[in-house]
Amino acid sequence: MSEATPQTLTIIRPDDWHLHLRDGPTLAAVVGDTARQFQRAIVMPNLQPPVTTGEQALEYRERILEAVSQAGLGDNSFTPLMTLYLTDNTSAEEIRMAHSTGVIHAVKLYPAGATTNSDAGVTDLLKHCSAALEAMQEIGMPLLVHGEVTDPDIDLFDREAVFIERVMIPLRQQFPELKVVFEHLTTKDGVDYVSQAEGPIAATITAHHLLYNRNALFQGGLRPHWYCLPVLKREVHRQALVQAATSDSPRFFLGTDSAPHPRGLKEHACGCAGCYTALHAMELYATAFSRAGRLDRLEAFASLNGPAFYGLPVNTGTLTLERRAFTIPATLPMGEHELVPLAAGETLEWSLVA
Ligand code: NCD
Ligand code: ZN
Repeated sequence: MSEATPQTLTIIRPDDWHLHLRDGPTLAAVVGDTARQFQRAIVMPNLQPPVTTGEQALEYRERILEAVSQAGLGDNSFTPLMTLYLTDNTSAEEIRMAHSTGVIHAVKLYPAGATTNSDAGVTDLLKHCSAALEAMQEIGMPLLVHGEVTDPDIDLFDREAVFIERVMIPLRQQFPELKVVFEHLTTKDGVDYVSQAEGPIAATITAHHLLYNRNALFQGGLRPHWYCLPVLKREVHRQALVQAATSDSPRFFLGTDSAPHPRGLKEHACGCAGCYTALHAMELYATAFSRAGRLDRLEAFASLNGPAFYGLPVNTGTLTLERRAFTIPATLPMGEHELVPLAAGETLEWSLVA
């Protein structure tokens, strides 16, 4: 065993800064996967109907804690960090009230129609949401951005780059002190922007965008379980993401964007966007960092950079991974449905130590 190829890795217990837990039986089926690995997670508000008020977020939080307890994981094993779904009608008062609860940590911007359950999203950010953004800037509440334009004239693969020009730059010119997280970054354009921009900006990066390029969608046939939004991009973009995630920059941190859908809605003529990665999130990230020869950077990315940006304490526990083959199960139970995890049947190089 040489020093260059460590066989185990112990890091401070990580957090997931972008997660879809859903509700009801799906929540009950998936929450344990996240709680086993992560101390905290930023929980996305794109339920049906979306979580648009502080009161709804508090109720949703109770349902999550109940599901954690039902899963037998112990009371302090997992802390959900709640978010609000920004709409054209979100008021400054709603933002202040949500912030004052101490358990609602951010506000999510979905451009209307950009992705799963985003119909109630924002139609024109600077026109309709200035009061809410003003309040967030003042109290230091981050705006989490799904950074894709929805203009049908823009090629699907260019929507992140065009969003930077059309929305991100004008937004940050008008609100230069607003904390912004560019969620699930997928392009070199995004990496360059986040690396160089002035002011409080950061980005989350998923494991699947670090491990796969868009060829994965079509390898041997059309593979719906690799379909997510923003969609996987060219290899040059994947390489830029790996470079960013493993760099010294504190602006990049872990966000799985794990998004469970029933198997029947993925394997469908009009399949849902979203990859289920909560089951094996840290194994996927460790495999990506290990392949880049930068396992030494995983702790900063997974456990340090996120809390620093959000102004939260670093966790106290630890998590250990070992270099042992992990074969991803073909399916998982999800209420009355089946759930297919990303890369089902494939073998990863790293396993979690229980
Ligand atoms: C997410 C979902 O299913 O809720 N899907 C996805 O492809 N990532 C929505 C989102 O984060 O865009
Ligand atoms: Zn998401």
